[in-house]
Amino acid sequence: MHTNYYKIDPFNPDIAVLTEAAAMLRQGQLVAFPTETVYGLGANGLNVQAVKSIFQAKGRPSDNPLILHIDAVDKLYTLAASVPANVLALAERYWPGPLTVVVKRRPLVPDAVTGGLDTVAIRLPSSLVARELIRLAGVPVAAPSANTSGRPSPTTAQAVLADLDSKIAAVIDAGPCEIGVESTVVDCTTPVPTLLRPGGITYEMLVEVLGEVEIDSTLSGAQAIPKSPGMKYIHYAPLAPLFLVEAEPIAATALLKRELDQALATGKTVGVIVSAELADSLPAEAIAYVYGPRDDTAAIAANLYTALRSFDNKPVDVIYAEGISDQGLGLAVMNRLRKAAGYRIIRR
Ligand code: TXA
Ligand code: MG
Repeated sequence: MHTNYYKIDPFNPDIAVLTEAAAMLRQGQLVAFPTETVYGLGANGLNVQAVKSIFQAKGRPSDNPLILHIDAVDKLYTLAASVPANVLALAERYWPGPLTVVVKRRPLVPDAVTGGLDTVAIRLPSSLVARELIRLAGVPVAAPSANTSGRPSPTTAQAVLADLDSKIAAVIDAGPCEIGVESTVVDCTTPVPTLLRPGGITYEMLVEVLGEVEIDSTLSGAQAIPKSPGMKYIHYAPLAPLFLVEAEPIAATALLKRELDQALATGKTVGVIVSAELADSLPAEAIAYVYGPRDDTAAIAANLYTALRSFDNKPVDVIYAEGISDQGLGLAVMNRLRKAAGYRIIRR
């Protein structure tokens, strides 16, 4: 299949291009598009065949449910069997934006979207291109991240093409995504709302609106049956094995140097993902990707997946990453790094 490539201005998108892409979606084809979090792989969310082709293109297990993307808050009522007050409060405060709510579904939502669950995940993105595309398509757009299953999510159209070129009808390129990690997923069907996946809307921001928020047990690393089906599979992994260093800055520097020296001594080619502060103290032989200043979690989140993918075409045998504090957006960053590392964590 030929994949059409459309370059578009993120702030002043060409409506003719979006109209063409929206028509493709309505006809059941797959279109990758930018959102403020990561690029999504879109399909008409009410067309079972189209939704199934998402799973095929990504190599995604069919029991990992998809998010339905809408262009206006009132569309919630067409997909959700009921809209509790706390869901409406979240929507009013954080939509459009990087938040996904899980609610009871209406029967019109296909099983192919929900993996057979009686709930559905819904999100209203803030990206202008995304919202215009969904509006023009006139249907809810099912969209997982536009990567091959298990790989880091794409934050550029180039990363989308690296995984999905010739497997999808089109990709819309509006440049790099602003946030860089996926939306926060909150299950609002539990007595106390449950954070299933940390993301652009932080735990602290959820508590402001909801008062009380439970954190899904799998997020603390404990082995349990994941509530969000997508949580049980390998995720975000670069091609070479990744090890994550979790410690306070001074200890982390020492740990990382020890690991790097050991790996280099055995003749390995080593990649490392670090803060600007730590970059200067690394052995010269290590191939470094600086993800940002240690306290700038927004920059680190925005660069995270590009950092992980940057080693795919370099001859590294192993990669080490410096962890950060898991306050605010750091919780999302650390969640992705722990998974990308397959929980190979180096502590003091
Ligand atoms: O930022 C994002 O959310 C991006 C962009 C494209 O919008 N999309 C995204 O989709 O990250 P995906 O498919 O990669 O992740 C969806 C997550 C998975 O962890 C999935 O298990 C969970 O949402 N999910 C979807 N439906 C659910 C449901 N009914 N109950 C619980 N978890 C659900
Ligand atoms: Mg994903």
